Amino acid sequence: MIMDGNGRWAQQRGQPRLAGHEAGSETVRCVLNYCRDAGVKYLTLYAFSTENWSRSEDEVSGLMALLGNFIRHYERELIKRKVRLRVIGRREDLSGHLLAALERLERESSGFERQLIVALSYSGRSELVRAARLIAEKVRAGVLLPEEIGETTITEHLYAPDVPDPDLIIRTSGEMRISNFLLWQCAYSEFYVTPVLWPDFREREFKDALDAYAARDRRYGGVRQECGQEVER
Ligand code: FPP
Repeated sequence: MIMDGNGRWAQQRGQPRLAGHEAGSETVRCVLNYCRDAGVKYLTLYAFSTENWSRSEDEVSGLMALLGNFIRHYERELIKRKVRLRVIGRREDLSGHLLAALERLERESSGFERQLIVALSYSGRSELVRAARLIAEKVRAGVLLPEEIGETTITEHLYAPDVPDPDLIIRTSGEMRISNFLLWQCAYSEFYVTPVLWPDFREREFKDALDAYAARDRRYGGVRQECGQEVER
């Protein structure tokens, strides 16, 4: 989920941007319910990009406080619902407090199958730079040969290597951009954009996105399968 449009939502109501983010956290709670009901096993939320640090100090600290509150208030609930929390992104950028709370919940929930992945201080490009560095270290140490490097090697060095590529990426508020989100993982993802702003995204919009996804013909660059036969497109 690329949760976009909080600022515009607030602006339309003559409210500060942070009010939009607060309303956006309420949507997060709702979306967790829709995903549970729909049997979604992995949900990744793009909560804060590396570029978002350039926003005003007030907005950044407000967003960080919101994330901290969300974890505090929702911790028990996530455990009760057997949801595993994972964080992807530059952990070193986060405050010690927030990181400690997130990592505690990561540990406590590590045995659960359904996953909520929160992208925090995340950028797809920096994830790939990090992977390249980790791989280079292994080559330097002599435990990996350059010719052994393949797509799997890259995948294995991502923040959450075992999480499958997203089937569907939903972006709210109408922008037709990927904005540095899961650049490696989105190679064959279906993309769905709704004009609805994130704070207004509710079950109707979620179901519309799933219906649109169900109607897509995913060929992964190949040909369509019909009645056991391959059909050229
Ligand atoms: C983009 O809207 C949204 C964000 C940068 C932050 C998303 C964060 C939340 C929804 C808060 C809570 C998150 C969790 C996981 C509890 P924007 O501000 O760029 O909107 P605009 O494009 O209209 O200005």
